[in-house]
Amino acid sequence: MDRFELDAKLSDEIRARVFGDGFMKLVQSVRRGGKPFKVSIRPVLIGEELKYQAEMSDETGVQVKNFDRAGIADGLEKVIAQKGARDLHVMCANGDLHVRVTRKGRVTATRSAELSRKVEVLPHDRVKKTPLSSFDSAALLAATGIADADGRVRASMRGKYDQVNEFLKVVGETVGGEDADRPFAVVDCGCGKAYLTFALYFYLVRSLGFKDVSVTGVDRRADVVESARRTAKRLDVADRVVFVERDLGSFDAKRADMVVSLHACDTATDEALAKGVEWKAKYVLSAPCCQHELQKSISATGAFAGLMRQSILRERFCDILTDAFRAMIMRILGYKTHVVEFVSEEATARNILIKCEYGVKPGQAGPVGEYLELRDYWKVVPWLEGRLSRMLGGYLERYS
Ligand SMILES: C[S@@+](CC[C@H](N)C(=O)[O-])C[C@H]1O[C@@H](n2cnc3c(N)ncnc32)[C@H](O)[C@@H]1O
Repeated sequence: MDRFELDAKLSDEIRARVFGDGFMKLVQSVRRGGKPFKVSIRPVLIGEELKYQAEMSDETGVQVKNFDRAGIADGLEKVIAQKGARDLHVMCANGDLHVRVTRKGRVTATRSAELSRKVEVLPHDRVKKTPLSSFDSAALLAATGIADADGRVRASMRGKYDQVNEFLKVVGETVGGEDADRPFAVVDCGCGKAYLTFALYFYLVRSLGFKDVSVTGVDRRADVVESARRTAKRLDVADRVVFVERDLGSFDAKRADMVVSLHACDTATDEALAKGVEWKAKYVLSAPCCQHELQKSISATGAFAGLMRQSILRERFCDILTDAFRAMIMRILGYKTHVVEFVSEEATARNILIKCEYGVKPGQAGPVGEYLELRDYWKVVPWLEGRLSRMLGGYLERYS
């Protein structure tokens, strides 16, 4: 017997758990050639038929395939015969089995106490349904380079894939009450290679059923705009998804129901918010990026001196303060505003999203007073206040 081999009794127990009643999921994590490799198997329904969905992930991406019982039985034998150190976890309604094989080939098996979990076998297309899996996004993902030719999300693009997916989720929640038959115009400020720009278009049309969507991506870099235009042609949406090479400050949209920005650098985030207000966009969704403006102007003595002396703490503190000012200014200007974490930190450390929806009375005493108090405490003028001074001035003066 090979030193990594599971004995016959344990192998039979794994088979029995996978093919018995109440099987929920099997996950095996191993290192292959020093690189992590994970396989998971779960039951799914395709039509009325019970199948098994296997997900294989390694450094190059994730691959998902559905198998019938015979197919998954072959796969399971490979899982059981896997060489090397590994962790195997079989979850069933009545309890779990954990098998651990160390590098020296020592095998330990532990079993949870008896459980009585409810098993729900979902249709395969409802397993982890996300915006990008809610419609056929294969062409979109391949054309934008997020996935390879086989449809596997590239490892280097996993973070972007998650960011876009989670951003779309917020869009879906936000536009739920909109009339999908009416024209809907979106502007993506600082669109870069336009991953979000294209995804937004297809999600709104194919998944949310919007009939008349136009999306404009704006970026000051000629190379990304050129490449995005080529992608639009390849996806056959060049008449609906257009790109403008321009600094945001000098760009004007004819119509914008929604303004978005994903990691538009520094004050480009402020510019996106300002444009949203000026264009009277109903929705403004902005995930800020690096932020330098406040760091240059803020100074701290007394209780905050020690915090500001440490550059990383200064940077993070100024990011938070800047986003607080942004949210407060949007609120003063009539937007119901929430600051949320839209995606996990693994996908990006810049995972804050400022969500604004027009519809509250502008210039109310409470929000203006709070803003002035915070601003005057720090003795700064946030960049966005300067940018929107014409609109804000009256409200701020009234309560100064
Ligand atoms: C970090 S990239 C993000 C790109 C894209 N939104 C994404 O998430 O993949 C920021 C983009 O904003 C653009 N940008 C920054 N400041 C800008 C400005 N003032 N006007 C137009 N584009 C700007 C940059 O050229 C760059 O392509």
